[in-house]
Amino acid sequence: MHKCHKTLSFNTLVAQAMRVMLSLDKASMQVIEDNMNNERGDRSGLLLETHDMMFGAFVQQIDEMNANFLKCWTSHINALALPAGKAETISLWYWLRHHFSIASAASLFGPESPLTLDPSLEHDFWVMEDNIGPLFSVPYPSIFLRKAYQARQRVFDALIEYGEQERYKLPGTSRLIQARAELIMGRYGFSKRMFGQAEGSMLFAAIINTVPVQAEIDRCTGVVEGKGKERRRRCVLNVPELRTQCPLFNSAMRETLRITATMNINRFVQEDTLLTNHSTDETFLLKKGSGLAIDANVMHFQQSIWGEDAGVFNARRFMPTIEKSKGDTEGGKAVDMAATFRDEKGKLHSGAFRSFGGGNNVCPGRQFAQTEMQSVVALFVAGFEIETPDGGQYKPPPFESRKMIAGVHKPGRDVEVTVRRREGYADVEWLCEM
Ligand code: HEM
Repeated sequence: MHKCHKTLSFNTLVAQAMRVMLSLDKASMQVIEDNMNNERGDRSGLLLETHDMMFGAFVQQIDEMNANFLKCWTSHINALALPAGKAETISLWYWLRHHFSIASAASLFGPESPLTLDPSLEHDFWVMEDNIGPLFSVPYPSIFLRKAYQARQRVFDALIEYGEQERYKLPGTSRLIQARAELIMGRYGFSKRMFGQAEGSMLFAAIINTVPVQAEIDRCTGVVEGKGKERRRRCVLNVPELRTQCPLFNSAMRETLRITATMNINRFVQEDTLLTNHSTDETFLLKKGSGLAIDANVMHFQQSIWGEDAGVFNARRFMPTIEKSKGDTEGGKAVDMAATFRDEKGKLHSGAFRSFGGGNNVCPGRQFAQTEMQSVVALFVAGFEIETPDGGQYKPPPFESRKMIAGVHKPGRDVEVTVRRREGYADVEWLCEM
């Protein structure tokens, strides 16, 4: 399916979502729909140009965006469980979601991001996200979905103000948002108001999916003595080393995504298209005008791909070599946790892992998101002891049950944890190095 991007369209669905969810006016929608499936064959038009620009920008500016995120994030971490020796109980999901949303928005939208100027918007954002299905389908949402409609309106108003006050021009705003402003307003003539509203799509893409091994992580940290009498000792986390020095940590993160990030990958069939399953030689005719979805929820839990333990969390599943993936022995025999997920040479292949989609529309924010998630978890692991308030065993919550999943699965209830600074790190202030 990902190879047929000419006839199976992502952009037709994007345009639909922009019309319904972002309430863009008629003139802006006409600009969005122009050549959106490359009918002219020259990749002109707003959707295709922003798509191509973004894929480049995410590669070129990833360090800058991650540094913006980490600056904001470390300020929350450095304020946690103080004074040294004090335990602080937090609702983990709510705490992470709140600070993560604000830091992610700031990393893109800059120092005057709507969520930085008004942190209560974070709540409105999640009310809107919770009602994404009904907001798509219920007629007259201002009457029948009053709360969600008003929450969405407050988010829009803040984004419109962001556009009208030209806050994207401030230093510290990502080049990605500045380049979108140049393209969307400068080249395609959107008003500042419609630009602000359209950026709801970026806010949405950046926030909804990114939520959230000690020895490996400790190898990536170093202590720098604070200068002056009053300065706290400083500890530096080397973020790029998290990617290269921590195979178990990386494997556990990918496994978390396998289980939680199982959204449908949707396409609209522009032309009759034949799809062949090369392992069975079966051929399917997809009829023009129909919708198509890969259900990652089915694919990510298929025993024929992942083995008998497909249904359970297995931190070692994505270890890069067979040797490393061998976990505890079973009846005296070491078991390769990822045996069925390797090619004949023993290398992991990624075809069945669809958390970030694939092909032409593969998620451009995936590296950015993975660095965000890794550094957040790494700072917790490196600097804090975390336990349940009663000291008992941690029980993972069930997933929230919802009919329409827009992004990664959320926990069905929050988890209270008690956070204490780790021995030897009680007084440190954390910094991140890119
Ligand atoms: C864990 C976090 C994330 C997950 C699981 C995720 C997942 C996805 C998926 C499944 C798609 C659709 C791919 C397809 O249909 O083939 C997608 C597209 C997209 N994502 Fe992400 N995403 C994440 C984080 C982010 C972040 C942080 C950003 C931006 C800062 C972002 C920006 C986008 C954009 C702009 C698209 C549309 C791509 C296009 O137009 O071709 N994502 N993402």
